[in-house]
Amino acid sequence: MTTLPKPRQPELKTSLPGPKTAVIMERDSQHLSTSYMRPYPFVPDHGEGVWLTDVDGNTMLDFFAGIAVSTTGHAHPHVVRAVQEQITKFTHVCLTDYPQEITTSLAERMVKHVERPGEKWRVFFGNSGAEAVEAAVKLARNHTGRSHIISTIGSFHGRTYGAITLTGSKTKYKRGFGPLLPNVSHVPYPNPFRPPLGATAETCGQAVIDHIEGLFQTIIPADEVAAIIIEPMQGEGGYIVPPADFLPKLRALCDRYGIMLIFDEVQAGMGRSGKMYSFQHFDGVQPDIVTVAKGIASGMPISAMLAKESVMTWPVGSHGSTYGGNPVAAAAAHATLDLLEGAVKHPGCGDSLMENAAQVGEFIMAELRGMQAEFPFLGDVRGAGMFIGLEFVKPDGSPDGKLRDRASMAMFGRGLLNLDCGEAVIRISPPLILTREEAATGLEIMRDALRALK
Ligand SMILES: Cc1ncc(COP(=O)(O)O)c(C=O)c1O
Repeated sequence: MTTLPKPRQPELKTSLPGPKTAVIMERDSQHLSTSYMRPYPFVPDHGEGVWLTDVDGNTMLDFFAGIAVSTTGHAHPHVVRAVQEQITKFTHVCLTDYPQEITTSLAERMVKHVERPGEKWRVFFGNSGAEAVEAAVKLARNHTGRSHIISTIGSFHGRTYGAITLTGSKTKYKRGFGPLLPNVSHVPYPNPFRPPLGATAETCGQAVIDHIEGLFQTIIPADEVAAIIIEPMQGEGGYIVPPADFLPKLRALCDRYGIMLIFDEVQAGMGRSGKMYSFQHFDGVQPDIVTVAKGIASGMPISAMLAKESVMTWPVGSHGSTYGGNPVAAAAAHATLDLLEGAVKHPGCGDSLMENAAQVGEFIMAELRGMQAEFPFLGDVRGAGMFIGLEFVKPDGSPDGKLRDRASMAMFGRGLLNLDCGEAVIRISPPLILTREEAATGLEIMRDALRALK
């Protein structure tokens, strides 16, 4: 009888935090910005695939990918090679003033994932998600000649002034920073698990549409609205998937009033949901503008704002960025796309990382749903692909943030890197190279951690 090799497990060589980690955490607390959060003591030293080793030699399984960024895992050889190759050629000239082939071809490649027959799209490159969002809002205002922007409660769009104004997830992002951007309003997000506006899981999409129509009749003149910006699947707000009818109805509403529809795909995009963009799970919906960052280049800083050619009408010189579209980051984006699309295969991940995200993500969600019987405090398991939210609830069904925090620490203590979001949610957003076996290892750690909470 042959015995299968035991799958790789986290390896904890010290208690947590280890001595070197503790020293760096202390130095960090003395010299870095007081705004940085530190959910638990972890200081990375190096990574390989879905594994990260801290400065004390403790190796942990990565179930959050640096907030949905490290799509191809850590130090993927194909990405490393692409970066090394480009860095020996040139690292900067400035895309705002001169074209560079590596970024031109990246744009050509990216628009293919949004263009429909007969359509043409264009790309603006920045460095961060917030910059892509700023660009989207500036473009929408410039194109329409209107000023008002509608965003959603629970959303996260970044931390620059325009982006925090749009953000609707936590007051801490806004307190003491005003005045913010004028002419921005927030409407509820249709969360089927906690339906707003007195609606049900099934009716909450229509209820939000009716709510916006109500605002147009009373408070916000529709002909002054430049754009509605929304995450097609809400990230920071709790990894929420809206009901199937909502985005098509939102599209129709925008069409009725000549409003630009902006989909912020910074967190759910780039293959994480099992499709290139999370809006592609909703039949027939096409935005006017899309923002992308995070997973686009496996951790190298680059972002993109894609818009229909008919919308990208701002004049020469009206917008730009010194570093945006940096050639080294663009090389990493090409390599990331190779793996996402399947032009380059990753061992054990099927035809492409997008396909792997869909299949392994489905396995993780099915396993988590199976755990709900043993752990009644797991109120909801939701998502698509490797964009998965796990909501902790009290016996009365209200969100249990404290229990979620304890669960997060218990998982970390067992070598599973994870991150919270929303009021009481753990987001499961691993590198898209996670295999079924590695997923099973992570799930076993979660089960063990959750048992320890009882
Ligand atoms: C949906 C969404 N938009 C925008 C941002 C801002 O991105 P960045 O932190 O790169 O500016 C984030 C970051 O979490 C995000 O999740």
